[in-house]
Amino acid sequence: MNLKERVVLITGASSGIGWETALAFAARGARLAIAARSESKLEELAGRISKEGGECLAVPVDVTDSESVKSMTRKVLEHYGRVDVLVNNAGFGVFAPVLEADMSDMKEMMEVNYFGLVRCIQAVVPHMLRQKMGHVVNVASMAGFVAAPTHGGYSATKFAVIGLSEALREEIRDHGIKVTTVNPGPIDTPFFEKADLNSIPKIAQRFMRKPDEVARAIVRAVEEEIPEIMVPGSMAPLLKFKALMPTLFARGTGRFYRKK
Ligand SMILES: NC(=O)c1ccc[n+]([C@@H]2O[C@H](COP(=O)([O-])OP(=O)(O)OC[C@H]3O[C@@H](n4cnc5c(N)ncnc54)[C@H](OP(=O)(O)O)[C@@H]3O)[C@@H](O)[C@H]2O)c1
Repeated sequence: MNLKERVVLITGASSGIGWETALAFAARGARLAIAARSESKLEELAGRISKEGGECLAVPVDVTDSESVKSMTRKVLEHYGRVDVLVNNAGFGVFAPVLEADMSDMKEMMEVNYFGLVRCIQAVVPHMLRQKMGHVVNVASMAGFVAAPTHGGYSATKFAVIGLSEALREEIRDHGIKVTTVNPGPIDTPFFEKADLNSIPKIAQRFMRKPDEVARAIVRAVEEEIPEIMVPGSMAPLLKFKALMPTLFARGTGRFYRKK
């Protein structure tokens, strides 16, 4: 997709990966709609993009609330008349062993990371179907392939995102709409204000990347219509290993995380 003047709606754009993704799409000449709960941060980012000559609409949304998601979609359509790219990025993680995990954390993660994404897809994709074009980017995680000890509740939400994306991709393929899943490893963002960074082994923490790297990968996935991306790409062989030897891989991951 040539991104010039395309309308890109990004959830979770008030921080981290979403914030950087908005800047990366704006740099390509796309018209932005940025959404999250923190209105002041959205206004700050919209101000920055406008100052740099871009076009950006800040729209408050809570993705756990269907009416709020519908209202976000309505406002974007009223303003721009279309949505070409939807980046489902809003999400958070709380890490705890399965037996100790707080049920309300588990439910809230599912509500935001999975059902929030479903709400946005159901609100926006019908408009893409009418346009006969569009691209949905679902930000999942490496945790959507590899469920390490203490990451069970969070991983479950990202496994769900990957499963849903696989089905959606085939359901809307013939309508000219693409679906990409993005699977970052650990990324240096405020995500780790809630998620416990110490649950990730020190060696793996050394591979932590900056959010602008994910943002660039997302832009490239849309431009080049790539169905699945890992960030960093060097993690992809790990998944091949998992596909070939799942039991050995799971044991190895468990041991690696328990040792820390
Ligand atoms: N950082 C990592 O290591 C990492 C790795 C793999 C995948 N990911 C995924 O990447 C995505 C972005 O995370 P990040 O690292 O950029 O974290 P972040 O900096 O904490 O950003 C999370 C974003 O989600 C928004 N959000 C949270 N709950 C929301 C809700 N109910 N409604 C609307 N927006 C909501 C937050 O905005 P408000 O608080 O303003 O609503 C914020 O903009 C998440 O899906 C995360 O699971 C992160």
